[in-house]
Amino acid sequence: MCGIVGYVGREDCVDILVDGLQKLEYRGYDSAGIAVIQNNQIVVKKTKGRLSDLTEKMKEEGRPKGFCGIGHTRWATHGEPSDINSHPHGNKRISIVHNGIIENYREIKEFLIAQGYGFESETDTETVAKLLDYYYEGDPVQTIINVIKEVRGAYALGIVFRDFPDKVFAVRKDSPLIVGTSENGNFIASDVPAILKYTRDYYLLEQNEIATLSADGVKFCDMYKNEIKKEIQTADWDLDAAEKGGYEHFMLKEINEQPTAIRTTISPRIVDGMPYLEESGMTKEMLKNYRRIFIVACGTAMHAGLVGKYVIEKMARVEVTVDIASEFRYRDPLIQKEDLVILISQSGETADTLAALKLAKERGATTMSVVNVKGSSIARESDIVVYTHAGPEISVASTKAYAVQLSIMYLLAFELAYAKGVISEEECRRLTKELENIPEKIEEILVLKERCQFIASRLVSSESLLYIGRGLDYALSMEGSLKLKEISYIHSESYAAGELKHGTISLITEDMPVIAVATQSDLFEKTLSNIKEVKARGAKVTMICREGTEDDKSVANHLVVLPNMDDVMMPMLALVPMQYIAYYTAVLKGCDVDKPRNLAKSVTVE
Ligand code: F6R
Repeated sequence: MCGIVGYVGREDCVDILVDGLQKLEYRGYDSAGIAVIQNNQIVVKKTKGRLSDLTEKMKEEGRPKGFCGIGHTRWATHGEPSDINSHPHGNKRISIVHNGIIENYREIKEFLIAQGYGFESETDTETVAKLLDYYYEGDPVQTIINVIKEVRGAYALGIVFRDFPDKVFAVRKDSPLIVGTSENGNFIASDVPAILKYTRDYYLLEQNEIATLSADGVKFCDMYKNEIKKEIQTADWDLDAAEKGGYEHFMLKEINEQPTAIRTTISPRIVDGMPYLEESGMTKEMLKNYRRIFIVACGTAMHAGLVGKYVIEKMARVEVTVDIASEFRYRDPLIQKEDLVILISQSGETADTLAALKLAKERGATTMSVVNVKGSSIARESDIVVYTHAGPEISVASTKAYAVQLSIMYLLAFELAYAKGVISEEECRRLTKELENIPEKIEEILVLKERCQFIASRLVSSESLLYIGRGLDYALSMEGSLKLKEISYIHSESYAAGELKHGTISLITEDMPVIAVATQSDLFEKTLSNIKEVKARGAKVTMICREGTEDDKSVANHLVVLPNMDDVMMPMLALVPMQYIAYYTAVLKGCDVDKPRNLAKSVTVE
């Protein structure tokens, strides 16, 4: 989604703005722009396309120079990607950048047209810019207050006023924005990586708080102009974490970071060999008393929830319902106050997941979030937060965040199973130890990349493929399928292997490769029969299986053999070849792996 940066300080702001926007490229965008105050005038440069197009444009038309400015990468919602629709928007005295959606922009636009305002773009943002202009009488903070009283929807706004050439103003509601601070100046940004090169210190802007930044400091106030004192936060991510570090793509780096990410996530939650989630506020007593568990999330995070459902139900014998957040929020779910609603989100800003969280709270359920970004909206709004420690995930396609989300699902399942007396302390210790062994096992699997590269070379010319699996393998293969389609653009579906012959098997020909995930020993024979069925109809089959099932390997055209672990732990290993296969297929196809078309990293609008 859109990325915002802003800077005011002692340095030339153009480099800082462009550099910050580069760090936000991962969010996805189709146009970019900056507004800089130069000699008391607002100079705007913006264009459809990439940041390199913006830099090119500045070379041709002249590069602005100044110490105060705002910048934006736009992911089109209202109006196609074009120079005119790009941000910043405004006029000679006010310029703004915006992330979010203004729901009542049509009404505001009609009102402003009646007041004599003209509009150039199709964006909702331009109406906010013109409304600011309408209210402006010399006091920027009052102007912003008047405007936010009228707009409905989600916004993070960075604003400069020509009359205040050494200040950047900012406000947010339901869209992320942080305020960075350093000796050399102050910043606004949609996310921490944009400012890490300059500072690790930042403030979290709460709903409708207004920030006024100058070179020497930052002031905050509420909608009544009462000053607010805020606590400084320190990012524990370092700059290296947001750089490629010698890898060709962030995705490959992040796949390889999984062992470390899992270790860092689970080690503080294992005390004396037993799972320990109590530091988050979730006691064993609470955990065992919930009537039902709902897991709500989107995309990959929802897939982590699906594995969580299988593991929790199997181990702890508690009913778990998994919902896609965009469905959950509108399906009037039967949640009660005795229920636990778990929201999983890497970014902590996904609009649908946030809305689901609010709904669960309204209905009195306990909300617990599993979130990677510290201080994000979902983390702040939920009753209990369990942070994953994957570090910044830059590639749009989620890999390490998924792995750490799974590891939390396992800890939760073990703790709950033990708390309910379904497993003994001894068994709980054994399983927890298995989880601790996962990073080492993943390190062994990471060397299988050439095997996966070869398999990718066999898939690259396919138009469509099927992933199949049963039980936990089915839940996992949904993620494999999503990974492949989102970055290689090969159509892919995941099917419960036993369901194939109820319709989908008619699609099988020699042009439809099948990837079978077959790691569950109790279901292996069954999956094998399904593999034979598709093979008999011409499909080329890749089988992801475990050591000890080699005798049956002749059934598949290609094999990826994983080390042996408990059935229940196998998804944590099988995820790696699926990620590699997707990655290498996309590389071989020449796709933009880290920034697939039409996708945004952090989906902050509905
Ligand atoms: C796919 C992917 C998405 C996200 C989804 C939720 O690789 O990354 O499907 O998982 O958009 O995002 P978060 O986890 O930030 O809520």
